[in-house]
Amino acid sequence: MEPTSRIIVALDCDKRETAFAVAERLGDECRFYKVGLELLTAAGPDVVKGLVSRGKEVFLDLKLFEIPNSVAGAVRAAGALGVSMVTVHGMGGGTIMSAAVEAARDFPGLRVLALTVVTSMTDADLADVGVGDRMDRQVLRLARLARKSGCHGVIASPQEVAALRSALGPDALIVTPGVALPGESPAEHARPGTPRAAIADGASHVVVGRAVTRAADPAAAFRHVRDSLTS
Ligand code: C5P
Repeated sequence: MEPTSRIIVALDCDKRETAFAVAERLGDECRFYKVGLELLTAAGPDVVKGLVSRGKEVFLDLKLFEIPNSVAGAVRAAGALGVSMVTVHGMGGGTIMSAAVEAARDFPGLRVLALTVVTSMTDADLADVGVGDRMDRQVLRLARLARKSGCHGVIASPQEVAALRSALGPDALIVTPGVALPGESPAEHARPGTPRAAIADGASHVVVGRAVTRAADPAAAFRHVRDSLTS
């Protein structure tokens, strides 16, 4: 896969005009966008349709954690919008993940990814919600459950990528948010790494948000990320 196709730019904003303005400035440089709960809730599904109609791939980060019937319905709705990736929480368990995978079968281009542990969480946060195991073990447990449930891949922090690649094999998608460029403040990312290190460790894609979207020159920032993957 060429470097450009591995970078997903997160459009974390609350206005469709802002999202399209970023996409406009990035032009052909960027082919893949993440739409999350903020933009979807504020601007509605038309923003997804708009990106798809501009020839972009969309990762719709719904982070589904619901009863299987509702998860299946949301996955079908995502598929009907033409998105390429949708997320479900691994913590929801095998039945929920299988329902998502089953619902995605009607949409050949749609991949279901399981969220393992949100990258901002620490071992202490896991303990607070009753998970006594260490972060790395919890991530692997949920990733194996996701694979058994038929998910096409997982979302995971840069620090778990290498272990996940060896656990899941060469075909699984491993999408890695929570990356910070060298020299950049890691913001709220508790387990950060660079895009280059994530790809070298076996990530199929990296998600980059503010480092690109809030840059004075988003296209230059995107190229900086892209070039950092190979240089
Ligand atoms: O920090 P950045 O703006 O690059 O975040 C891009 C995306 O990465 C966000 O949309 C968010 O879903 C994800 N992210 C994450 N964990 C964090 C920070 C961001 O999963 N700690």
